[in-house]
Amino acid sequence: MRKSIIKGSGSYLPEKILTNDDLSKIVDTSDEWIVKRTGIKQRHIAKENETTSDLALKASQQAITNAGIDKNDIDLIIVATTTPDLTFPSTATILQEKLGITNNCPAFDLQAVCSGFVFAIATADNYIKSGMYSNVLVIGAETMSKIVNWEDRGTCVLFGDGAGAVVLSASTQDDGQGILSSHLHSDGQYTKSLKTNGGASSSEKVGKIEMAGNDIFKLAVKFIASSIEDALNYNNLESSDIDWFVPHQANTRIINGVAKKINLNKDKILLNIDTVGNTSAASIPIMLHQGIESGKIKRGDLVLIESLGGGLTWGSSLIRY
Ligand code: ACO
Repeated sequence: MRKSIIKGSGSYLPEKILTNDDLSKIVDTSDEWIVKRTGIKQRHIAKENETTSDLALKASQQAITNAGIDKNDIDLIIVATTTPDLTFPSTATILQEKLGITNNCPAFDLQAVCSGFVFAIATADNYIKSGMYSNVLVIGAETMSKIVNWEDRGTCVLFGDGAGAVVLSASTQDDGQGILSSHLHSDGQYTKSLKTNGGASSSEKVGKIEMAGNDIFKLAVKFIASSIEDALNYNNLESSDIDWFVPHQANTRIINGVAKKINLNKDKILLNIDTVGNTSAASIPIMLHQGIESGKIKRGDLVLIESLGGGLTWGSSLIRY
């Protein structure tokens, strides 16, 4: 049976680091508050002229190299982002040009905020299973620092910039590897709880992030845990079968709350929130790549990814790496 496997991965974080102490000079906050409430110690921030496609480029080049394929073997590019370089064209087509991919393969952006990478994996997986494409470059890339309100201490301490990428490829090998399932959800009644205060057709400006953090926090644990239970039930698996939990890195307390709800051993959680903060759609592929690169995630391991973001949107995928 035709299935999708992760053939290669990559990630990139901008050089500039903003620590909690740096932030305490900008807004009324402290390292102690941020670490205790979120687990974040620092985040990476893109330079003024560094765009989402620049970060995506570096992560993609690494993923393509690690996949061991020619860049022109890529037959679809999906960029999950909420911070595109331009309103149009898509960051994916800008990236296609920067990568030097000249085969006219389709390239488009996918917008599901922090859930973007999970939604993009599910999309790519279905294109591969249908036989339409065979090597899909799936990227989560963000420059959240450019839409953060740097006067709002409730949100500006949370976000960071970065990019992660995977090459998903078709395989018919009988080795158990591949994307086992994806469970995606959205509920537009929560639009106002997490949004920007502007956009192309409403204010003609990009807008800055506004969030009812407390409401999102409670919904996140409930919705994410339910999506994971759906994934485990669908595959007749138990949480003890999971080798590695690669959650969206939004808040350590949310991640621990989810792990407790699904009865998952804390040793199986891969965390980098302390060094990168919440990089929205980039968060899962960055952590996934770091887990693979460090040798923790090995071929055959069962990996669970999950996320919740603006929309609300949420979902999970189970992957046999
Ligand atoms: N430093 C110091 N004090 C602060 C800060 C700060 N950076 N931010 C808020 N406070 C204060 C508040 O003003 C409040 O003070 P008050 O009691 O005097 O009114 C107090 O701290 C408590 O505020 P809460 O908002 O209740 O704090 P909470 O424990 O809920 O933590 C947080 C806030 C970290 C934002 C949390 O709610 C959270 O993580 N929410 C979910 C975020 C998330 O997952 N978002 C989804 C992904 S983002 C995306 O999709 C784009």
